[in-house]
Amino acid sequence: MSSEKKKVIYSAMQPSGVPSLGNYLGALKNWKNLQEEYNCLFGVANMHAITVRQDPTELRQRTRDLVSLFLAIGLDPEEHIIYVQSDVRAHAEIAWILNCFTYMGELNRMTQFKDKAAKHADNINAGLYTYPVLMAGDILLYQSDLVPVGADQKQHLEICRDIAGRFNSIYGDVFKVPEPYIPKVGARIMGLQNPERKMSKSESDNLNNVVYILDEPNVIANKIKRAVTDSDTEIRYGEDKPGISNLLNIYCSVTDKTPDEAVNDFKGCGYGEFKKSVGDAVVEHMRPIQEKFKEYSADRAYVERVMQNGAEKASYIANKTLNKVKKKVGYPIYK
Ligand code: TRP
Repeated sequence: MSSEKKKVIYSAMQPSGVPSLGNYLGALKNWKNLQEEYNCLFGVANMHAITVRQDPTELRQRTRDLVSLFLAIGLDPEEHIIYVQSDVRAHAEIAWILNCFTYMGELNRMTQFKDKAAKHADNINAGLYTYPVLMAGDILLYQSDLVPVGADQKQHLEICRDIAGRFNSIYGDVFKVPEPYIPKVGARIMGLQNPERKMSKSESDNLNNVVYILDEPNVIANKIKRAVTDSDTEIRYGEDKPGISNLLNIYCSVTDKTPDEAVNDFKGCGYGEFKKSVGDAVVEHMRPIQEKFKEYSADRAYVERVMQNGAEKASYIANKTLNKVKKKVGYPIYK
């Protein structure tokens, strides 16, 4: 298939802390597999990140680290586009325009805003409120066909579609209206200490709850060893067994085995042995990624070249859409 014919898929991640095993198995690992079938854009959403207060030095470092991690998991900056959001000015420009096509009533319904406002009560800024508009711009600038979204971003994709549809109904077909991409396989990884809730990188209240992609092998093994189980002894899936089910899912994800195969592998095992095997499997899966991450992050010049090339390629596409939009809304056109 020629690259012209391929559909465009847009994904982005915020550089707000080291990604967790949940981020990796739930999102990043799938991104790698999209590359064959689609034209991909992989963004580092650092403009979204400043909706909560960040330490500047850390933010800059994490931004570069996330690019290194994208490279380490096998995202290809030649065939596809890896870029940092703030390096493409079109994002800020289109966000303002789209703000004028978004209703406060719509934004008032966003559950993530309500959650974040409650969590950061001392900094409920306008950026946090218009966050979904910035995100809509990300997607629409590249005429994206598809966006892989987890449950937490579904509402944001909906509002993006609404904004695009509204703009198109006024000005004609300017934006492609994106569809959600539901991965064929995708793991929803839960916390190790609190398997009722998603394993998220920002939930740092219990250090053993979250495995980070860059945790040392012994740290990974120990966190998994301490994962909560239950008073039963059986290794099987079950709603009554959230801890064991989660560990089985993690095992399936890193070994590419089916749930049945996984359960079979541990017939007659005790919990201790089971957890050790899951830990080993995770460590082995992460080892080459961690090694590559180390190599890339030691080569700052290369990573920055990737960022600059990516920004150039992304800007070229984004500016085409932006110029159309500017014309439509009546900004000056110079001959
Ligand atoms: N808001 C997303 C998140 O926190 C990151 C993001 C920014 C994104 N822009 C995007 C995701 C566009 C998909 C499409 O997970």
